[in-house]
Amino acid sequence: MSLPGSVSPYAPDESRRPPPGAAADWTIDQAWEAYEDGEHDVWRTLYERQADLLPGRACDAFMRGLDALDLHRGGIPDFRRINLDLERLTGWNVVAVPGLVPDDIFFEHLANRRFPAGQFIRRADQLDYLQEPDIFHDVFGHVPMLTDPTFADYMQAYGRGGLRAQHLHHLHHLARLYWYTVEFGLMASDTGLRLYGAGIVSSRAESLFALEDPSPNRLGFDLERVMRTPYRIDDFQQVYFVIPSLEALLNATLQDFGPIYDRLDRAEDLGIEDVLPGDAVITRGSQLYAHRKLG
Ligand code: PHE
Ligand code: CO
Repeated sequence: MSLPGSVSPYAPDESRRPPPGAAADWTIDQAWEAYEDGEHDVWRTLYERQADLLPGRACDAFMRGLDALDLHRGGIPDFRRINLDLERLTGWNVVAVPGLVPDDIFFEHLANRRFPAGQFIRRADQLDYLQEPDIFHDVFGHVPMLTDPTFADYMQAYGRGGLRAQHLHHLHHLARLYWYTVEFGLMASDTGLRLYGAGIVSSRAESLFALEDPSPNRLGFDLERVMRTPYRIDDFQQVYFVIPSLEALLNATLQDFGPIYDRLDRAEDLGIEDVLPGDAVITRGSQLYAHRKLG
């Protein structure tokens, strides 16, 4: 099974040129007027499911962002409308793209506080299953966090860091940081674990699994450790990393990654379900779900 958001944020490098109708930076017009009633219905169905589920599960920053953007009004949101709030709150904008874009294009957008979002929405028979990130994953999952000033800075820094990592041939390491934070991150709070990763909060099943299932490991976030940990793109994660706060995440990434990349050149990848002596273990998972699935 594949889940919404469980897709690499990085497009394969074969199609370097933007598709017909797209600008050089791969953006397209959202063409909001052209969405059909059935497509708005799919948004509302997904929205209501997650809006019921997430209070008490998603972190405060996400819930505040959801509120500030008033995402449910009228079904699929019009980017012109949400950009008024987003621009005012953190200076970010959402731009429409046809689907996954090449790495450098993606990073260039982030570095300029533009979040590229898929223009299309999944079909009604794909509520839980989708290969590529659609507008629900991209906008419902990612955009609320961009209303938080600290997370907004982190995403911009990640864009710059992505261009650098590409240049240094360490994108495979940096991509794991994106995966285990922006897509599948958990956060500690006084009252227990909370979700902030877009791949989780846009998926009903993974919202429950990530917080409540006894299968996955839940480990304290450690930058270099995360960069050594492979991830699954086709199913629930086997390990989640827990940040103490968004400020702590941003702080950990302010350092120069050059020396880290040098060390990673000489370090082995870890096993996806390894628990190391140095890990801050929050939950040691049974891995039952993954082992059953893999046979
Ligand atoms: N500090 C990183 C570097 O030196 C850049 C970065 C910032 C990467 C934030 C990811 C997130 O490459
Ligand atoms: Co995503």
